[in-house]
Amino acid sequence: MQDHGATVAELLVAGQVVSSLLLVPLTIAVGCARVKVDGIGGVETVEAQRNKGYSRRVLEGTVRHMRQGSAALSMLYGIPDFYPKFGFATAGPDYALQLRGLSRPADLPTGWTVRNCRPDDVPVIQRLYAEYTGGAVGAVERAPDGRVWSTLAALATGVKVGDPDECRVVVGPSGRVDGYAWRGKHFWPVTSDFERAFPDSLVIGEVIASSTPAADAVLAVCRAWGAQATTPRGEPVKDVVLSLPPEGLLYAAALRQDARMLITSRSAEDFMARTVDVARLLRALAPELTARRGDLPATPNVTLRLETEIGASTLHITDAEVRVTASETASHRPDTTLRLPQTELMRLALGALPPADVLNRLDPPPDDRTRALVDGLFPQRRPYLHLPDRI
Ligand SMILES: CC(C)(COP(=O)(O)OP(=O)(O)OC[C@H]1O[C@@H](n2cnc3c(N)ncnc32)[C@H](O)[C@@H]1OP(=O)(O)O)[C@@H](O)C(=O)NCCC(=O)NCCS
Repeated sequence: MQDHGATVAELLVAGQVVSSLLLVPLTIAVGCARVKVDGIGGVETVEAQRNKGYSRRVLEGTVRHMRQGSAALSMLYGIPDFYPKFGFATAGPDYALQLRGLSRPADLPTGWTVRNCRPDDVPVIQRLYAEYTGGAVGAVERAPDGRVWSTLAALATGVKVGDPDECRVVVGPSGRVDGYAWRGKHFWPVTSDFERAFPDSLVIGEVIASSTPAADAVLAVCRAWGAQATTPRGEPVKDVVLSLPPEGLLYAAALRQDARMLITSRSAEDFMARTVDVARLLRALAPELTARRGDLPATPNVTLRLETEIGASTLHITDAEVRVTASETASHRPDTTLRLPQTELMRLALGALPPADVLNRLDPPPDDRTRALVDGLFPQRRPYLHLPDRI
């Protein structure tokens, strides 16, 4: 069943839906590469029908369906201890930046102003998001008429789309919008996740800035916003929580202020992912692997086979590029082979963990040459989906 680009998988018993989920096709950035991902959400079995194996049937059927599709990875935000049964593993921590010391004045930089987002700002905001996240890992490519930007467009035209939501833009001395702070109250990760975790804070779901002064301006806006805000109990908020990974201009600007970065990892819940197809994953990553090959030790024309329990592919690393083939012929035996679970390949692909941590845990551990290749091609990054994109 199709619903706004998403597929609904349902299991019916005696004509009644007993268990279902939502499959949402996404494209994420991994540096300059673009990777197709099937996002999973809304996993649920009706209460009276639980513990009869129904969700297992839906999820196992969904994994088979995804493997026949076009996605390279699947991602979800998980029910604790449930998804490892279906091949998912944690794909990195979540991040929250707390701006503290709200009693200090938070002035905008000279020449900058702030105002509410207007309809004509929406295309500018779309471009700011695309530029800020273009080389990141995990950021979702958003269609201009997709769910997230339609929500903002409705907000900008004054249509009430959720709880008191608001998006403020900062305008530079040239009169251009160069950053924004959007509470994102329409999105469940803001209201059900972050606001519950930080009941004494003002949560701002998405912040983007295109320059260092714009970053200073956005942080000043967030601080001033927090200084005026109250909790649902009517008390002044203690701090402002921004959803932000520990990288980029805003993070750097925050390091000059009273701030605290919270990095929270969980063993089998929250941000989880799995490899759907090894060849599709490595082919999609090839442009980014090509860009990274400059960090490799001088070993031109080497082949590295990555072998998992769900498939294998070979990377052909030359001076010019990293090319991927799904299988090697007898005349093209790989120079080296790395055997690893598909979950660890997903972690390498997303840069979810330091490569040494992944490699040290393999049995048998790889040799030094393989280590050097993996270190150069799969450095640790900060995989991060902005809150509005989480399913
Ligand atoms: C979690 C949930 C989907 C499980 O559905 P279900 O049909 O009862 O699950 P199944 O009977 O197919 O169980 C499959 C396996 O998961 C285990 N399991 C069931 N519920 C679980 C839970 N809440 N947490 C962890 N494991 C669970 C079962 O023991 C079973 O293990 P096994 O097959 O290895 O023996 C169901 O409890 C539910 O709908 N919970 C609410 C979900 C929700 O809040 N969704 C919000 C959107 S993400």
